[in-house]
Amino acid sequence: MNIRSREIHLAARPEGEPAGTDFRLATVDVPELGEGQILVRNTWISVDPYMRGRMDDVPSYIPPFALDEAMEGSAYGEVVDSRADIAVGAHVVHFLGWREYAVVDAAAATVVDPALATPQQWLGVLGTTGLTAYAALTRTAPVRDGDVVFVSAAAGAVGSVAGQLARKLGAATVIGSAGGPLKTERVLEDFGFDAAIDYKQGNLPRQLAAAAPEGIDVYVDHVGGDHLEAAIGALRHGGRIALVGAISGYNSPDAVPGPRNTFRLAAKEATMRGMLVNSHFDLFGEYIGKAVGWLADGSLRTEETVVDGLENAPEAFLGVLRGANTGKMLVRV
Ligand SMILES: NC(=O)c1ccc[n+]([C@@H]2O[C@H](COP(=O)([O-])OP(=O)(O)OC[C@H]3O[C@@H](n4cnc5c(N)ncnc54)[C@H](OP(=O)(O)O)[C@@H]3O)[C@@H](O)[C@H]2O)c1
Repeated sequence: MNIRSREIHLAARPEGEPAGTDFRLATVDVPELGEGQILVRNTWISVDPYMRGRMDDVPSYIPPFALDEAMEGSAYGEVVDSRADIAVGAHVVHFLGWREYAVVDAAAATVVDPALATPQQWLGVLGTTGLTAYAALTRTAPVRDGDVVFVSAAAGAVGSVAGQLARKLGAATVIGSAGGPLKTERVLEDFGFDAAIDYKQGNLPRQLAAAAPEGIDVYVDHVGGDHLEAAIGALRHGGRIALVGAISGYNSPDAVPGPRNTFRLAAKEATMRGMLVNSHFDLFGEYIGKAVGWLADGSLRTEETVVDGLENAPEAFLGVLRGANTGKMLVRV
């Protein structure tokens, strides 16, 4: 089978905010399958903020994208050829996104049930997005009954799930921050937070104090910078912070200064702990078992922002860094 596939290559390593010229649309011949491999026609791909870090040639928990090669990331598709024990026609999630066709080692693909959830949900709330929220709130900064929980980037993919999970895990009050009035409205109306802060209005500490006059117990940090500093300031004794992301600094060419008040964590005997979702894959079964039920009974709401066409994937990715999305940002290939 001679198949040609379009894919997005990294054309240049950006300084600061990436631009469209850092990406190139290429057409390649898809290689023959080897033993144990499947050919997947990708139908949906995920574009995520962490990919910004992979554009830089620096050591990290995951290697940088290679220049002039297809980028990678989560994808959903249908198996169209197989030399492995995954049948043609199966639906799979795998990690060779940013392309139309992917030759995937069967061991690196997860077969999913399309009757159970949509592709968007398999890549979002039932994928690493949802698992990140669940692991952050059960392991990294566990929620206890009656807690006040603050989540930043609350209209985004992880944040919108985190707020809803916090409530299910026993939080009494859930506060979210997002950029602009439309997003804060979604945070309240669609994702059921008790209070929403528009950080673009400024003075985050004052807005957080108004939403949580007695302080907060848990903060799920997706933003870093001023958000983290405000959360440390508002933390109650024994509070917990999950460092999940720090998107406010991702496009900064220089290291971003940390919060100025970390010593307050000592007086509060608080915990601030980083998390990587890949270290919590053992929770996937437990989490999906619960989340499928919550989706079915309507108590877990999801949202996605869809961009059509592989050629528009770079624009979708630039959009997620700028806040063009509500819920999960996805590309329909
Ligand atoms: N540690 C892990 O394993 C792990 C796993 C998944 C995700 N993450 C991290 O979790 C965070 C959320 O990821 P996601 O996939 O759910 O993305 P997302 O929240 O759906 O999208 C990113 C959002 O960040 C907000 N944002 C951008 N610049 C900002 C700024 N300067 N200040 C405040 N907010 C800003 C934007 O929303 P507004 O319009 O509201 O500004 C944007 O929609 C990211 O930091 C990501 O790197 C970490």
